[in-house]
Amino acid sequence: MQPSRKKPRERTPERDHHCESRRGGTEFAVEVDGTRVIAKPGQTVAAVLMTIGRTSWRSTRQRGKPRGLFCGIGVCFDCLLVVNQVPDVRACQRLVAPGDVIRTQHGAELGGDS
Ligand code: FES
Repeated sequence: MQPSRKKPRERTPERDHHCESRRGGTEFAVEVDGTRVIAKPGQTVAAVLMTIGRTSWRSTRQRGKPRGLFCGIGVCFDCLLVVNQVPDVRACQRLVAPGDVIRTQHGAELGGDS
């Protein structure tokens, strides 16, 4: 008995769109500290940074200690950075969008004790 061979499905714009969204969508560019970086829809800013090898992107205000992803669920505020000139954005909670301009920050720019 021979295995059945399926006829390849015909490509349609609807099917292409469906497959594209299942794969995570079309990649786009963002800027991280002046460098162009490729991101995928659905990634958090923290995920983009870790993808390019960054493990810290903020320093504490008093001692300059490096901070990055810690809790990953929006509780600790260790992952603060600046997105599109808005300071103190939690990188683990913010989804990237095409054209985002991301930069590291020192301490908490809006206040706080970090
Ligand atoms: S890693 Fe804790 S708030 Fe983002």
